[in-house]
Amino acid sequence: MGVLLIGSGGREHALAYAFSRNQMASDIFCTPGNGGIAELATCLDLDVNDHMSVVDFCRNNSVELVVVGPELPLVDGLVDSLEAQGIKAFGPTKAAAQLEGSKAFTKQLCSKYNIPTADYEVFDEADVAYCYLNDCSYPVVIKADGLAAGKGVVIAHDHAQAQQAVQDCFDGRFGDAGTSIVIEEYLVGEEASFFAICDGESAMELPTAQDHKCAFDGDVGPNTGGMGAYSPAPVMSYEMRQRTMDEIIMPTLKGMKADGIPFKGVLFAGLMITSDGPKLIEYNVRFGDPECQVLIARLRSDLLPVMLASSDGKLDRMVNQFDDRPAITIVMASKGYPGAYESGSEIKGLEEAAKDPDIMIFHAGTKNEDGRILATGGRVLNITALGKTVSKARDKAYAAIEKIDWPQGFYRKDIGWRAVEREKETT
Ligand code: AMP
Ligand code: GLY
Repeated sequence: MGVLLIGSGGREHALAYAFSRNQMASDIFCTPGNGGIAELATCLDLDVNDHMSVVDFCRNNSVELVVVGPELPLVDGLVDSLEAQGIKAFGPTKAAAQLEGSKAFTKQLCSKYNIPTADYEVFDEADVAYCYLNDCSYPVVIKADGLAAGKGVVIAHDHAQAQQAVQDCFDGRFGDAGTSIVIEEYLVGEEASFFAICDGESAMELPTAQDHKCAFDGDVGPNTGGMGAYSPAPVMSYEMRQRTMDEIIMPTLKGMKADGIPFKGVLFAGLMITSDGPKLIEYNVRFGDPECQVLIARLRSDLLPVMLASSDGKLDRMVNQFDDRPAITIVMASKGYPGAYESGSEIKGLEEAAKDPDIMIFHAGTKNEDGRILATGGRVLNITALGKTVSKARDKAYAAIEKIDWPQGFYRKDIGWRAVEREKETT
């Protein structure tokens, strides 16, 4: 069968890698793709905002399943347009993608169905929000309602910071995303990423992961899309996973169905594990990046039949198998990221670095120009390793990085530190 993958990041390279190991996928296409994906798939430039051009491509190339990597095309309703034309897609409809597209929507769903999350209020007017700030306790969290590329959240430690954050939103810093805001309670605990593939009714739990959002070692510096991840997240004990399914994921699926907007695709819950148990920080309606890379490194069964079953509403018949060994991924980014950075530098040594069968290198911002791999983005490579422990996987990944010759790049040296500390305590 033909598969069309939409996206260009490390997440999409990992997905293309999973598809390429599957006999079912005769043709893999990716738009726009990157230098690594181009080794596994036919990369092409489609305008994904023009839904009919995607439909036409699928019809002309016998594409039976479209897999949407990033959130924007989902929130824009690409899945609705494909399904209306009889083309299967993995991912939620526009209405269901509100779980990521509108924080107020998700908060209201949590209230209606008793899903544990931070206490909150939604505001459409700055003056009312300013009044609220006079009496709330600090720190407090201010969020633009809509998609803001991960930049719409401010943790305000005092009244002045909170007032500034509210003003920024209503002054249009995030465009339409900030015309409505959520102000919520600051949660204390350890964060974890939880994933479930859903078919509107049932959910298949995937392994957990933990991301590292800050740019620099010691969890300092500006927020990024994620500088590294590992799976599983030790904080997600059997009990915490069970509670997350029972208290968060299943009530969400039931609530969405009852409200007439069943959710299909990957439900990615950003959790805070508090002293009261798991609480939902936010939903994403797609795989995490770089979390997807560590999940795929551990995946031992085929992903395509599961994605088809999600689209068809028949997930209850499916199983997934994962390697028991942990996986880690270290992001190599262009110096300057998440701010301004230079493009076009050459990366050497990738083949040598990937020789160990436990190492997978997933590309993000790269292109292949006449056989040379050039950096073209902020996050550029994901050096991914499996190991008996997180510490061992981490050592392999950093040893592979030593073989990569790319002076214009940087990476965090402490990815996995929480799990490594825990492993030290138990040995
Ligand atoms: P979000 O985009 O909603 O995931 O928020 C980005 C980051 O802000 C999260 O990964 C958390 O580290 C932090 N954050 C968001 N909401 C809260 C909250 N209510 N309490 C504490 N930290 C939060
Ligand atoms: N790594 C976090 C995300 O994909 O949203």
